This record gives sequence, C-alpha cells and structure tokens, in this order.
Amino acid sequence: MNFKNFRKNYRIADYAMFGLCTWIFIYCMLPWRFASHYDFLTEEDIFEVLVEQVTNNISLQQLPECDYSAIVGENAYTYLKHYQEKVLRNEEILPGGEYYPRDCKARFSVAIIVPYRQREEQLHIFLTYMHNYLRQQRIHYRIFLVEQNDQLPFNRAKLFNIGATIAVQNEFPCLILHDVDLLPLNSGNLYACTEKPRHMCSALDKFRFNLPYTSLFGGVVAIRSEVYNIINGMSNLYQGWGGEDDDFYERILAKQYSICRFEPKYSGYTMLRHKPETPNQNRGQLLTTSHLRFHIDGLNSLTFKENERRIHSLFTHILVEI
Ligand code: BGC
Repeated sequence: MNFKNFRKNYRIADYAMFGLCTWIFIYCMLPWRFASHYDFLTEEDIFEVLVEQVTNNISLQQLPECDYSAIVGENAYTYLKHYQEKVLRNEEILPGGEYYPRDCKARFSVAIIVPYRQREEQLHIFLTYMHNYLRQQRIHYRIFLVEQNDQLPFNRAKLFNIGATIAVQNEFPCLILHDVDLLPLNSGNLYACTEKPRHMCSALDKFRFNLPYTSLFGGVVAIRSEVYNIINGMSNLYQGWGGEDDDFYERILAKQYSICRFEPKYSGYTMLRHKPETPNQNRGQLLTTSHLRFHIDGLNSLTFKENERRIHSLFTHILVEI
C-alpha cells in the first residue's frame, strides 16, 4: 500500500469511527433502548386481576361498596402543586396514618411499608403527597415507616420483612413495598393487590419512563401478604444498595409465581433527588447463590430489635435495630 492509499484508508476509518460513535450516541438517547417489550395489563384487564380483600373491621361496615371505575377510567395526572403543598382535610386521617372512606365500604385494605433512614425532607414530601393521593382512591390504607435505627449499612429488604410482619399482625392482606423517594403520577394506579405480585413503577422518570430490564422488581411493589409469606419474604443479607430486589424477583419465580404490571399510563412515577447510596459490593456474589438460601433466609430467619413504635398523625413509626 502506498502512502496515498494509506491516508485514504485512514480517513475512511475515521469516518467509520465517527459514524459508529454518532450511532451509539443516538441509540443511548432513544428511550426504547431499554427493555423494549414487556407484558402489561391494559385498562380493560385491571378489574379482573385485582384481589378484593379487607381487614375485619372494614368488612363489618354496613355501607354500599366503593366504586373504583371512575378513578381508573379517568387516570388524571396528579403531580400538581396542591397535592404537594399540604395535607388536605387531614382530620380524615386516623392516628398512625390510617384512612378508610366513610361513605362507602373500601374493597381493598393495604399496608404501605416504607423502609427509612435519614431522608427527612423526602419523608415530608412523601407523606404530604401520598395522603392526598391515596385518599382520592377510596381504599383503606395505613402507612408503616420502618426506620433502621443503627449504624449498620442500610438493609432495605430486611426492613420490608419487619414491616410485613407487623402489617400482617395488624391483619393487612395486601402489602405495598414502597421507596420513600418515589411518587405516583396518575390517579388510576390503584394501590391494591393483584393476584400476581405487581411491579407498580415501570414508567419511572429516572429511566425516561422505560424499564431498564424486564426482571426489574424494585421501587414500588404490591404483593399479597399470603404470597409474601409463601416466598419467605425477602433476603435479610443484602446490606447497602442493590441486588435485594433482583433476589426477590428470583424468589417469586422459584415458587412458580410470575409478576404483572399495569400499562405505562398507570405506572408513571417521579423520583425525588438524593445523593446515591453506597452500593453493596457483595451483591453479585449473593445473587449467584441466592437460590440456595430462599428457604432459610427471609421471614423464617428474621431477627431484629424493636426500639420503639410511635403513632404519629400521618404514619406509624417503627424504630428497629437489625
Ligand atoms: C440493582 C437493583 C436496582 C436496579 C435499578 C440493579 O443493578 O441490582 O437493585 O433496583 O439496578 O437501579
């Protein structure tokens, strides 16, 4: 090859590289580069899969049953100023952060379990928004905040196990496992359990309203208490950020369950800004061997010390050492 040809080839290589980089850049910007296909339930399917279950006190009410078709049908955008500013009609909320409608009989009783440590500003926003959001759905709910009150690395999954145990003692048939930094955007994302465990936040703004991978099962999840118990809850071993939700997903599959999602127009969430948590360096290794421990690591091996239970006006505060 003479020098002229070499220069020419070199230029072609440059162009090719430039083209490739441009293509990669555009590809990265496209929202559908994420899990492009995943199954979801459309509006018509929703009422067929919801499981109507309430606590004993609600079941004894002599009232006509609440109707949920309007809220699901309308599915209004609710991330509005007045939902965020203050808790409206706060006299309706019972101590401990519990609510049920007074003019109709709720068809769903739901424990909202929120693992927590040192996110005061977010907690304030969460409680204000969620109480405004949830009451318009006319469900029966109670917010349980489980705070890790020690210096160990944050253990999200273990806090869920603790919250689930307490919620079940309080007779709740449905658990919603909820991060404190996530807020639903549309009114029709009914906070209720479906037959299958449900991933509720598949259209999150942080991921440009797409799902990064189909088995993602973190953020906000609804699961019947009975199923949570059958799969032995979550692992107690994940300390620090990441992996515990992937482990949870694997447990569900291992017990022959599958998960479901509502269509994206119901599953929109926004994430409140915060600095990233310290990742769990051990999570990959834990995940590869997790299937060996599903039956021995979870609700049946849960140990913790409850320091205090406080009944606040907007939530039940459970302080634990784990
Ligand atoms: C982590 C999960 C996390 C997901 C999305 C994964 O790599 O293992 O715990 O939910 O990323 O951020």
